[in-house]
Amino acid sequence: MQLLWTDTLFASLPLLVLLTSPAHSDIFTSSEKLQLLPVREEALLTSLDKYLETRTDKPTYLTSFLAERTAALKTFQQQNNTFHPNAAFHNIRLFVANWGYVLQSYPDFNATLGELGTGLPDYEDYVGALGAIVRLQRIYSLHVRDVCAGNYSGHTGPPLQAWHAADVGLQAYKNGHTQTSIEWLEYALSQLTDTDQQENAQAKAHVLTTLANAYRQTNQGSKAQELYLECKKLAPQAPDVIQLEKDLKNTTFSNPVTNALNESAHEGPTLWDQFTDCCRRDKFHTVSALRPHHVCQYKPGFSVPSYVTFKVEILSLVPAASLIYDVIYDEEIQVLVDFAKENLGTARIGNDNARVDLKSRTSQLSWVHDDQSPVVRGLSQRVKVMTGLEVEQRFPKGPSSAESFQVLNYGMGGHYNPHYDTYARDVRPLSTHLQPAGNRIATVLFYLSDVEKGGSTVFPRAGISVAPRKGAALVWYNFEPDYNDVHNLTLHAGCPVVIGHKWIANKWILTYGNTFRRPCGPSPNTTQLELEAIVTSPTRTKLVTSCVTDDVTLVMIALSVLFVGGNVRASTLL
Ligand SMILES: *[C@@H]1O[C@H](CO)[C@@H](O)[C@H](O)[C@H]1NC(C)=O
Ligand SMILES: *[C@@H]1O[C@H](CO)[C@@H](O)[C@H](O)[C@H]1NC(C)=O
Ligand SMILES: *[C@@H]1O[C@H](CO)[C@@H](O)[C@H](O)[C@H]1NC(C)=O
Ligand SMILES: *[C@@H]1O[C@H](CO)[C@@H](O)[C@H](O)[C@H]1NC(C)=O
Ligand SMILES: *[C@@H]1O[C@H](CO)[C@@H](O)[C@H](O)[C@H]1NC(C)=O
Ligand SMILES: *[C@@H]1O[C@H](CO)[C@@H](O)[C@H](O)[C@H]1NC(C)=O
Ligand SMILES: *[C@@H]1O[C@H](CO)[C@@H](O)[C@H](O)[C@H]1NC(C)=O
Repeated sequence: MQLLWTDTLFASLPLLVLLTSPAHSDIFTSSEKLQLLPVREEALLTSLDKYLETRTDKPTYLTSFLAERTAALKTFQQQNNTFHPNAAFHNIRLFVANWGYVLQSYPDFNATLGELGTGLPDYEDYVGALGAIVRLQRIYSLHVRDVCAGNYSGHTGPPLQAWHAADVGLQAYKNGHTQTSIEWLEYALSQLTDTDQQENAQAKAHVLTTLANAYRQTNQGSKAQELYLECKKLAPQAPDVIQLEKDLKNTTFSNPVTNALNESAHEGPTLWDQFTDCCRRDKFHTVSALRPHHVCQYKPGFSVPSYVTFKVEILSLVPAASLIYDVIYDEEIQVLVDFAKENLGTARIGNDNARVDLKSRTSQLSWVHDDQSPVVRGLSQRVKVMTGLEVEQRFPKGPSSAESFQVLNYGMGGHYNPHYDTYARDVRPLSTHLQPAGNRIATVLFYLSDVEKGGSTVFPRAGISVAPRKGAALVWYNFEPDYNDVHNLTLHAGCPVVIGHKWIANKWILTYGNTFRRPCGPSPNTTQLELEAIVTSPTRTKLVTSCVTDDVTLVMIALSVLFVGGNVRASTLL
């Protein structure tokens, strides 16, 4: 049977725009939702079968589509599927192109579907899937031919055809990755068969003009000229060929998207290198300079009998970061994930519910609150015992000492670009009218799943790279120990997931209620170990050297200055 859109989907753009729903389905940003696509297709096929029974004319297209998809789905379900980016790509493409066409061409069939016909992958998912492949290839420095063969660092999956590679290249170009687009488009052209080219001259011309523009942008004008002659022969009337002819005569060429080449240009030229370097490390690794402090220890919990210990691996002293192993039970993970699945949504920023830039993060999240289950509350209490920090949630009665668990599921090539966890940098840890609970002084990141390949948490500026490990928690402190500023080395990122599902849960600990639990060190150089020595010291008088505070404790400190004469660094309060 003739599948639709064997050529580049971008060449069919006018048709596809119709398939874009205003409320985006955002399937590609969650591996959980991608995983459910075959289940949804099974239901669609059952409905299609029923629909065909009602039609006496039995349209050939529909009957053969039904037969082909039923067989393909059966094969797919028999395979031992792990999450593979190329498989996700094919699934999304199938829905956007083939199912999209069926639903659009047979509105009365669509009308029988109700709920089932809504929230299916749309064009934005397809663009997201292409972007994910570009990201994986660039960040992990993979060969285009390997990716197209389905080989991501040895993890194999279905291949990509020449026109699929062309779409990846076209998307790379749109995203401003000119050099990457050249690699993909050249590869795609080299793989086109004679039939491909004869049947899809228009699509090929589109690929050639884009490639020509990519060459112009990289100052390879003569190659651009050659390609122009080729596509002029192929499709002289195509609008993009005519445009290319005009453009080639224009010597004042400027590329509006060149900046996108340096993914995080605003953070300095080397961040991209540091980031990819950390992501490409296969196993957990810290830079050698930190080695002297890199120790594993059984550490007693806070305010519990001393036989309650945690398996702690100190990853870095500056910034203070540790990995605590086996700190969340599988049953607890299940509870968090089950609650989260009920209302996973694409990550949004701020109160205005603005959609985040899907280029900077691809994941879906859900908040899980202490009052939803004693299990969740118990987990919050464990955070308190692990860190010695207050986690009480008082909302709506007053400011909380910690946020609810933010549970995240990453999508295809799911990632999070380098960022700080703190609210606006100038929201100091102390109380402000903007943020009554202060700022996020510490982050506890639980790994709720192993990830087969990729998905590490990295601190590119500090050279720290942590591979997800189910049951472990990564703990770090976001401010310099004197609380004067956000700790620049806590800039961190989630590397793209290559193979597998990534689930994590964040617990952010706030200033409020932690004034005396997290004292400030005498200088930014004070280490976490020194701070903990202060907190656990038998003579706890030093504790009043807190410089993180909220309005209530501000008064208490003032009183302690008056009556106790403690060593208060009041200047840092203001
Ligand atoms: C199926 O996948 C699991 C987990 O990835 C693996 O342990 C098992 O060996 C696989 N089985 C087959 C038949 O490939
Ligand atoms: C199918 O029907 C739903 C409503 O049931 C509608 O939202 C959707 O746009 C339709 N799909 C197509 C491709 O026309
Ligand atoms: C996958 O690609 C890598 C890197 O090019 C190569 O070393 C390896 O042999 C390939 N594996 C397979 C199964 O083709
Ligand atoms: C030439 O290119 C520049 C920058 O891309 C553009 O601003 C200008 O309008 C173009 N000139 C012509 C004649 O198309
Ligand atoms: C990225 O930025 C650096 C420094 O700003 C610059 O030297 C380099 O050429 C840029 N890379 C590209 C591909 O534009
Ligand atoms: C941290 O970054 C900020 C903003 O980029 C800068 O102003 C500050 O000087 C940096 N702090 C240190 C200690 O490098
Ligand atoms: C902190 O450490 C840096 C580099 O190790 C050193 O230059 C600086 O003098 C130290 N500052 C204090 C206050 O000890």
